Amino acid sequence: MITFSYKDDNLFCESVDLTQVADTEGTPLYVYSLSGVLSTLERFRRSFADYPHKLCFALKANSNSGLLKILAGQGVGADVVSGGELQLALNAGFPPEKIAYAGVGKTDSEIEFAIRSRIMALNIESMQELKVTAAIAERLKIVTPVAIRVNPDIDIEGHPYLTTGKSANKFGIPFSKVREAFIWAAAQPYLRPVGIHSHIGSNIVKIDPWIMNAKKLTDFIIHLKADGIELEHVDLGGGFGVDYGTVLTEQGNPLLLDPEVVIPKLIDIIKKSGCECILEPGRSIIGPHGVLLTRVLFTKQSRGKRFVVVDAGMNDLLRPSLYNAHHEILPLQYRNDKREKADIVGPVCETGDFLGLDRNLPPLQRGDLLAIMTAGAYGYTLASNYNSRPRPAEVLVEKNQYRIIREREIL
Ligand code: LLP
Repeated sequence: MITFSYKDDNLFCESVDLTQVADTEGTPLYVYSLSGVLSTLERFRRSFADYPHKLCFALKANSNSGLLKILAGQGVGADVVSGGELQLALNAGFPPEKIAYAGVGKTDSEIEFAIRSRIMALNIESMQELKVTAAIAERLKIVTPVAIRVNPDIDIEGHPYLTTGKSANKFGIPFSKVREAFIWAAAQPYLRPVGIHSHIGSNIVKIDPWIMNAKKLTDFIIHLKADGIELEHVDLGGGFGVDYGTVLTEQGNPLLLDPEVVIPKLIDIIKKSGCECILEPGRSIIGPHGVLLTRVLFTKQSRGKRFVVVDAGMNDLLRPSLYNAHHEILPLQYRNDKREKADIVGPVCETGDFLGLDRNLPPLQRGDLLAIMTAGAYGYTLASNYNSRPRPAEVLVEKNQYRIIREREIL
């Protein structure tokens, strides 16, 4: 579905005029489309057909509690990576038996909190963590379900910071040591090995790494049965790539890797293991359905270079500065003027504070409004108070209405 489109030259989110929202609520402002999120969820669900599965939304992509409550109400599970995210997931109403907890550096108190919360599985990332978890579970006298996160040494051929499944990355236990870890876990009175976990990276746009990973994990599960260990689930992580380029396509397909193509292929492989399939999508669920609205403060020229200084900066949306990530930038009021190149920069005192470089946009003036597209995932969650700037407000659009789901921060 198309969540953002021009109507009479004004950019709308569903049936809401974004200029009116920005004028009323101020900028910078995150805006999300509920119908967009629900339609993507539906695509994921359809892809599984009737194969046993859990879709665990990765809170790190967007942990707005208003949004989380809606996702929990949709029957979705949660993937969390800290005690804070676990608390948010529980507060939002995700059932503990649908929550997976990964992370290379869990503290003792976070492990205890997860065990006491009786979540679906703690995803264990090292032999040392496994031993600490066993000791804490024993002290609490709670039999604890664990999954071992494997590092399958698979290259997604993406941005180096978004690659997590290569042996050079800090995540998971190498395949050569995973069997040993499972055998050790199975012998502990207070551990119950229930699954195998992997997450090979984020914004994956190729199908081959997924297939390779599913095959490796399935073969492993089958071999593990010979050791008398029967797993219940295989968790292939998140990572479905989204289209940061063509944001207003008529086809309305914001996902570069189509779950309806990929998931049936994955199921075809893992069904031999007899395990339930878990996926942990974050970006693909919410990324394309959110924008960051910002207003032009000043324009200036310096030696043939044109700068458009806006009121949103790297503290509001870090992705361009951190990963050199491309986000389309659209004027809220479409003008068919001749375009001119400009750097769209923020107010933060850093040269690396930009939202887009060398962008061809209509001549922009003080007061004009812009939408930074595909900012629904890893936008607000990566926002900070750098330069003592308050974080933006967030609103959720539903058809022709919107509501504030987080007030603008007051420092
Ligand atoms: N599961 C685990 C264990 C993860 O580490 C991640 C993302 C996900 C699931 C969700 O992946 P997704 O479906 O969203 O691709 N800040 C970066 C993305 C970092 C992703 C880290 N892990 C960005 O802005 O692109």
